[in-house]
Amino acid sequence: MRVSICIGSACHLKGSREVIQKLQKLVAENGLEDKVDLNGDFCSGNCKMGVCVTVDGVLHSVSPETAEEFFKKEIMGRLS
Ligand code: FES
Repeated sequence: MRVSICIGSACHLKGSREVIQKLQKLVAENGLEDKVDLNGDFCSGNCKMGVCVTVDGVLHSVSPETAEEFFKKEIMGRLS
């Protein structure tokens, strides 16, 4: 599964760094390094939705506060 987090300036201001750190930690804690490919991505023009995160090309809006919930639903939920 490919998960891309926007590192453009608008998403950066909304906490993309923190979202990446949280997702990295959750992926590691759950031993999913070989199943989940986390990447940085450039601005896709959806800045209003930021932090923009795509899961296999599907766009989601995530914040540092919702990162864990997003991980459970959209990453863990789709792997099982
Ligand atoms: S900065 Fe993330 S979509 Fe534009």
